[in-house]
Amino acid sequence: MEQVNVVDHPLVVHKLTQCRRRETETWQFRGLVEEITAMLLYEAVRDIETEEKDIVTPVTAAKGKFIKDSEPVFIAVLRAGLGMVPGALRLFPYARAGHIGLYRDHDTHVPVEYYCNLPPNISELDCFLLEPMLATGGSATHAISVLKKAGAKKIKLLSLIAAPEGIKTIISEHPDIKIYLASLDEKLNENAYIVPGLGDAGDRLFGTA
Ligand code: URA
Repeated sequence: MEQVNVVDHPLVVHKLTQCRRRETETWQFRGLVEEITAMLLYEAVRDIETEEKDIVTPVTAAKGKFIKDSEPVFIAVLRAGLGMVPGALRLFPYARAGHIGLYRDHDTHVPVEYYCNLPPNISELDCFLLEPMLATGGSATHAISVLKKAGAKKIKLLSLIAAPEGIKTIISEHPDIKIYLASLDEKLNENAYIVPGLGDAGDRLFGTA
């Protein structure tokens, strides 16, 4: 599964474990999601291009490296993806943001799009799709298709936790997309919650449980 990168750095693992705990409060959960997202993004941009330029330090003239022509856009899948945006913007404060709203139809279980707002020049941007929980993978798969239809060429997916079922779906539908995760969990339960997971990410982020 070359397409899947599990970022199992001890800091990520520690912070994800705090997220999972039932007693972690909303305000703590938000901060943890923000920090984990920044660490996932740090890995996801490891291949970003840099260019050398002359600089002057307080001591001497030197050569320095700057990130070259990167135009990131962070696309949150509503609503839980919103919790990942601040962490991503901390690393790239100048980035743009997009939003894709999906709900799952009660009868068919198929994702239905109710909102989509993306920058017009998306084909030139580095797209990072933010979806904290890859359960069945249905929402992420649909959101990736929306991005591709809008012209996006470079897409990476950042998630906190995935179930094997979700990963399988995304790999089969979108084999070209790299996925960055803090954990690949055990399974889905009968209600399509990830086990052990962290519960409903949206409820935990917004205190709506
Ligand atoms: N969405 C969540 O927020 N949590 C899960 O466990 C599965 C889907």
